[in-house]
Amino acid sequence: MTDQQAEQTFPITLSVNGVPRTAEVPARRLLSDCLRHDLRMTGTHVGCEHGVCGACTVLVDGAPMRSCLMFAVSAQGSEITTVEGLADGETLHPVQQAFKECHGLQCGFCTPGFLTTISAVLDDNPEPTREEAVEAVSGNLCRCTGYQNIVASVLRAAEITRERSAVAIDEAGR
Ligand code: FES
Ligand code: FES
Repeated sequence: MTDQQAEQTFPITLSVNGVPRTAEVPARRLLSDCLRHDLRMTGTHVGCEHGVCGACTVLVDGAPMRSCLMFAVSAQGSEITTVEGLADGETLHPVQQAFKECHGLQCGFCTPGFLTTISAVLDDNPEPTREEAVEAVSGNLCRCTGYQNIVASVLRAAEITRERSAVAIDEAGR
């Protein structure tokens, strides 16, 4: 390929887990590929690459998004949260803690998408019913589990969030 045929690239700036990041990407670069290959944020995984499995889910301005369906240039200026950004230092995110307690963890491909998806669901609905918990994970595909422990993890994550809120309120009142 000659220099004249080289693909045009565009500079983008994103906030990834609160850190400003820049990359130079072709217009067709997927956000998932930008995160993994340009920014070396390899916690986000791709499964189907067709928007079906949910493995690549990240939060874009707080909303769950299949990063294999979004061009990186479309994310210009957005706040991206990947699985690496869920924990608060050494403190696991409630969803991560719940997956640990309830044995909800599956493989490294599907689990990051479950964690990011559920964190967003609980932001919208902090007290899901079991049926709502089932619905919450219905867009994340894994043929290796019966989902029982994952559904239990959703409910436990909601509990942990409430427990932590109660402790914070209690401490603030002292
Ligand atoms: S890899 Fe994006 S939805 Fe499957
Ligand atoms: S796809 Fe990850 S364990 Fe089934």
